[in-house]
Amino acid sequence: MLPLPVLEKAREEMLSFNGIGMSVLEMSHRSSEFEAVLESAKNGIRDLLQIPENYQILFLQGGASLQFSMIPMNFLTEGHSADYVITGAWSKKASAAAKRCGRVNEVFSSVEGGFRSIPSQDELRFTNGGRYIHYASNETIDGVEFKYDLDGFGTPVVCDASSNILSKPIDIEKYALIYAGAQKNIGSSGVTLVIIRDDFLEIAPMGQHPMLDYRNFAKHASMPNTPNTWGVYLIDLVCDWLRTQGGLDAIKEKNEQKAALLYEVIDSSDGFYQGHAERNARSVMNVTFRLASQELENRFADEASAIGLNGLKGHRSVGGIRASIYNAFPVSGVETLVDFMGDFAVRNG
Ligand SMILES: Cc1ncc(COP(=O)(O)O)c(C=O)c1O
Repeated sequence: MLPLPVLEKAREEMLSFNGIGMSVLEMSHRSSEFEAVLESAKNGIRDLLQIPENYQILFLQGGASLQFSMIPMNFLTEGHSADYVITGAWSKKASAAAKRCGRVNEVFSSVEGGFRSIPSQDELRFTNGGRYIHYASNETIDGVEFKYDLDGFGTPVVCDASSNILSKPIDIEKYALIYAGAQKNIGSSGVTLVIIRDDFLEIAPMGQHPMLDYRNFAKHASMPNTPNTWGVYLIDLVCDWLRTQGGLDAIKEKNEQKAALLYEVIDSSDGFYQGHAERNARSVMNVTFRLASQELENRFADEASAIGLNGLKGHRSVGGIRASIYNAFPVSGVETLVDFMGDFAVRNG
């Protein structure tokens, strides 16, 4: 979901942005109006996440999936290795892409246990001299989330934060690079946010293909070519909305409250609903659970959909049920789902 005030503002300005008689969809990305939008979106992200000046904020395209390749193409260069922490489907994909470029050490994997857990910092041992450590702070499909910002103890940390960025404050200085597809908490699809520290950018090789070159995006303020102008505009509106909500501390509290309501129904259902993630690994953004049979899960999703609760079927690769409760999903929506779950359990238990 996008916040309703964001959609309303976008609708209002669809035909004429700031009264100039033209939509953001139509204006040149080189116009002063659009440059101001991009600058404002960047500042919005910088303020909310309290990003220091030695980090560049870039808007790219190609989704988070392109970052799976672009990161190793730039940093896993000859003679180097990188550590990958595998906690779910997305970090596994990232690792597979990196293996095409160079030596990958999977220093942790919870694949055997069905991606239900998150390692503690103490469980992780990184390779001496590794180029970077990659992990996904929230695994969208499996519903497991890191509750801490991983520390590389000197090795640069690269994080796929696609599905929990802007859901809570983070300690940016722990990271060399953070990336996220915008379509969950930042805006719409078609923009990838990349936050990269200057000293990490410095070690990217020269002479990279221009559209795969972080330096090129940094040098041209995210516009070596035409960016997704509408997508950047929506990011600016979402940042404004987040500020009106009280920023990331306030949104974190609200998100935890929403997730707690759902986990509570699961835990008090006498096993009718079985949470997928181990308790200390439970995601605040994606609540994953199973029912006794696929038939029951299908009925659950169909009945929910009939009362306006859509998108509850788990990812096609794992099945089950998944409630994605990103920033813009209201507490009232969670309450409706909780009521439905209680009622469904009584009728089918
Ligand atoms: C954690 C995570 N990483 C990567 C991706 C892939 O993103 P994209 O579709 O923008 O390439 C997703 C998509 O849902 C995701 O949730």
